[in-house]
Amino acid sequence: MGSLEGKTAIITGGGSGIGFAIAERYAREGAQVVLAGRSPQRLEQAVEKIGRAARGVVTDVADEAQVERLIDSVPRIDLLVTCAGGAVFGPVEQVPRKSWRDLFDARFFGQLSACHHAVPKMPPGSAIVLCSGVAGRAALVNYSGGAALCGAVNAMGRSLAVELAPKGIRVNVLSPGLTRGTDIDWQVPPEKIDAFMSSLMERIPMKRTATAREMADAAFFLATNAYATGVVLDIDGGWTAV
Ligand SMILES: NC(=O)c1ccc[n+]([C@@H]2O[C@H](COP(=O)([O-])OP(=O)(O)OC[C@H]3O[C@@H](n4cnc5c(N)ncnc54)[C@H](OP(=O)(O)O)[C@@H]3O)[C@@H](O)[C@H]2O)c1
Repeated sequence: MGSLEGKTAIITGGGSGIGFAIAERYAREGAQVVLAGRSPQRLEQAVEKIGRAARGVVTDVADEAQVERLIDSVPRIDLLVTCAGGAVFGPVEQVPRKSWRDLFDARFFGQLSACHHAVPKMPPGSAIVLCSGVAGRAALVNYSGGAALCGAVNAMGRSLAVELAPKGIRVNVLSPGLTRGTDIDWQVPPEKIDAFMSSLMERIPMKRTATAREMADAAFFLATNAYATGVVLDIDGGWTAV
């Protein structure tokens, strides 16, 4: 019997990349997983790969009514994982405010409103795994708004951990380092992607990128370690240790 047998998990961004790897892992451990994302095709494919333990709910997390509908589709939530969102790269003088707003709408307010609606359905012993990123702790050129977002998620996770401890709900943040093999849009032309990756790799002591599965291992730890709360877990090959 898996250690998540009988649990229900909502995983936003579960249709691809890190979210999908987490969904696959949780399902393998016995959880029923509800995947949320905007693209029905992506969700269908993900559900097909995971099998009977999975279902998809088309959701744009930037739209609070859709987040509410997602949460309404589940009677009880044991695990909430919020990986939905993308990234915006560019020099501060070039990226328009709307791009940062759109990023925050999905990736910050999407996580906050998922917690807002889910908490009343979370019994004692349940857990929330938020998702930030290495830029919350390490400066990343051309990513000022994304860095602010990651820092905001880290701060939100710590505050929620303290706020929700009396309800028996643990809250932690998974902070991924450079993870390849996902569908994230790096907004770099194909001919420049290797140079872009090499420039980042120089800063990673382990000199390699992560896999989504390594992120899923960390998310499994955060789902199951009953004493872990208020943690920002950097899985980044040592990037933030430098
Ligand atoms: N890969 C990395 O190196 C890295 C590093 C640090 C942090 N992160 C963060 O980790 C998270 C997962 O990224 P990933 O690398 O796994 O990329 P990914 O494969 O693109 O996963 C992101 C998922 O979020 C969904 N999504 C995006 N906007 C959404 C919205 N408004 N509403 C609902 N779903 C939405 C996407 O599906 P739809 O487009 O179908 O909605 C997609 O399935 C992201 O927040 C990313 O910024 C990634």
